[in-house]
Amino acid sequence: MWFLKRGWWLQLLQFIAVLGLLWMLSLLIPLKTARRPAYILRYQWLEYTNNDESPEKVCNCTGILQGEKEALLKAKLLTITKDFQKIIQIPDEYYINATQDCRKFQTSRKYITFPLSKEEEEFPLAYSMVVHHKDTFHFVQNFERLLRAIYTPQNIYCVHVDKKAPASVFAAIKAITSCFPNVFMVSKAVNVVYAGWTRVQADLNCMADLYNTSTTWKYFINLCGQDFPLKTNLEIVQALRSLKGGNSLESEEMPQGKKKRVTNAYQVVGGKRTGKTKDPTPFNLPILSGNAYIVVNRGYVRSVLEDKRIQALIEWAKDTYSPDEFLWATIQRIPGVPGSTWPNRKFDMTDINAIARMVKWQWHEGSEDSVQAVYPECKGHHVRSICVYGAGDLQWLIEQHHLFANKFDADRDPIAIYCLEKYLRHKALIELV
Ligand SMILES: *[C@@H]1O[C@H](CO)[C@@H](O)[C@H](O)[C@H]1NC(C)=O
Ligand SMILES: *[C@@H]1O[C@H](CO)[C@@H](O)[C@H](O)[C@H]1NC(C)=O
Ligand SMILES: *[C@@H]1O[C@H](CO)[C@@H](O)[C@H](O)[C@H]1NC(C)=O
Repeated sequence: MWFLKRGWWLQLLQFIAVLGLLWMLSLLIPLKTARRPAYILRYQWLEYTNNDESPEKVCNCTGILQGEKEALLKAKLLTITKDFQKIIQIPDEYYINATQDCRKFQTSRKYITFPLSKEEEEFPLAYSMVVHHKDTFHFVQNFERLLRAIYTPQNIYCVHVDKKAPASVFAAIKAITSCFPNVFMVSKAVNVVYAGWTRVQADLNCMADLYNTSTTWKYFINLCGQDFPLKTNLEIVQALRSLKGGNSLESEEMPQGKKKRVTNAYQVVGGKRTGKTKDPTPFNLPILSGNAYIVVNRGYVRSVLEDKRIQALIEWAKDTYSPDEFLWATIQRIPGVPGSTWPNRKFDMTDINAIARMVKWQWHEGSEDSVQAVYPECKGHHVRSICVYGAGDLQWLIEQHHLFANKFDADRDPIAIYCLEKYLRHKALIELV
């Protein structure tokens, strides 16, 4: 009898031991899975992965973003390989065909079709996208990748395609915009001339359309086809909120060398001086120097469209040289314009301090220990003394406070764009955790 009892005891002990083991295992397993971020479970399909059919995926973007020599060298070799150059291009016809089925297009190109957060949903933005024909050969692809990088359903996008663009380009971009209710073609397209008035007019036309189409957006950002974001939509919203109603754009004293741009009259085509001297500015408004890229609140845009002083300034500026490089900067210092600052020099803002755009000019490049240098040397190449970023510029770029950078070119360095879009998408999804 006692023998049987002992067997019973042993069995019970074994049973308890097994239960305990199972309990300990059950503690270990959730520990392991809990390390995985939640987005992998919820929005995994929106991540750009190596299963996508991008030829650029042979590059190690993690290494590139960390500035690793080996990864950068491989990227550099690829970008100069003819075969690689050929296969990476998305032809215009692809877009015409793929947009026949908008839902499929949005899914296959992984567009974000719902607001990723309440904060973003409550802070819609308005974009003016001015795509020049001469920007780049494959500019439909450039445009679409830029749109995809900044697209969210709560924002609103006005697209200005240069009037002289070929019909096929116009058709492809129109087909893309028709797949999104909040993306539209500008109502009045103009012929954009370098350094001429029409560059400003294109943005003005989009401003008017954006202002009229929606009353809810908070900030306006203008882009061209060679810009690319450095921040996610959430980061952009947070940066704009922290401006507390202010605007962020270059606005400085006009350098002596540029003064003749506004003291002489110019013919728009060819940028030739007409020999005529210009009258003083209306209301004696002081002219300030800046660039074409701005981040401004809704009230600034309302002033541009309605303020009598600004209407007069616009008329006055139509025969000046490169008005995009002083008009916005000047409006930013007119008293009463929402988010503006006083004309006094103490309020001058450089392009480095403004968040609108990171542009690297060749003559400001240099090493960190140089007293003159503003930024490190361009790792891509230069066009008209402006750096067209290469993969080697990314590590430095993503640390800057600017919302966007210029210039990127999918023809010359597709890997820079590829790694940047991958990095931003991953960040946007991980922000959800
Ligand atoms: C890419 O680079 C990262 C960072 O150095 C490294 O950890 C990873 O192993 C590399 N991946 C591949 C596939 O080489
Ligand atoms: C157009 O798309 C369909 C499927 O969406 C595909 O079968 C066809 O080959 C495409 N045509 C061209 C010219 O790309
Ligand atoms: C905005 O819309 C109103 C009414 O539709 C129109 O009268 C006005 O001209 C538009 N303004 C601009 C700047 O397009």
